[in-house]
Amino acid sequence: MFLSARPQPPAARPAAATVRPMPILPIYEVPHPILKQKAARVEVVDDEIRKLIADMAETMYAAPGVGLAAPQVGVSKRVLVADVPVGADGVADAGDDSRPESRGADLLALVNPEIVESRGETRYDEGCLSVPDFVEPLKRSAEIVVTGQDREGASVRIVARGFYAVVLQHEIDHLDGVTILDRVSKLKRSLYQSRRARAKARGDSKAAEHRPGAI
Ligand code: NI
Repeated sequence: MFLSARPQPPAARPAAATVRPMPILPIYEVPHPILKQKAARVEVVDDEIRKLIADMAETMYAAPGVGLAAPQVGVSKRVLVADVPVGADGVADAGDDSRPESRGADLLALVNPEIVESRGETRYDEGCLSVPDFVEPLKRSAEIVVTGQDREGASVRIVARGFYAVVLQHEIDHLDGVTILDRVSKLKRSLYQSRRARAKARGDSKAAEHRPGAI
């Protein structure tokens, strides 16, 4: 998921490919079939999963995005990362109890996340790194409780509200093979598909992908 209001990445992050600590993974886009698959549960949180989390985080920051699910980088496993600017511009409202992993860093990594409670209703403009050049306000729960495991395999329980809750619902959708295109009307979906087909025919599909202010 992306959000144009997110501050630019710190200048310290090198733009050149000379000192890149981790590989930036390719982001799969619709209509790639992996985005339609229900991702597999992770049985053991091991070094392979921790490396996936690190690579996904790096990819998310580089995009830039505020959330990323493993199927978006071609790995059909139930893993997500998120870094939501809590409090920034009032877009997110998360209580102190809601981000147990955020101490010292704002990165949240969740393995096998599951929404166990949801309340209320909210709506934010949502964009997706796998659905370039498309933004829609979608109806979501305003507050959710998510259980899962952290990168050490320990059980976690997270209360997320506002935009933070929206991001987690968006990423958990990805783990179930659902994108924002599946949550809009058939007409909007087909208009988008025609627009993308025309852009691809012109060869400018990549140019529009991360246009500033697209959301
Ligand atoms: Ni997305």
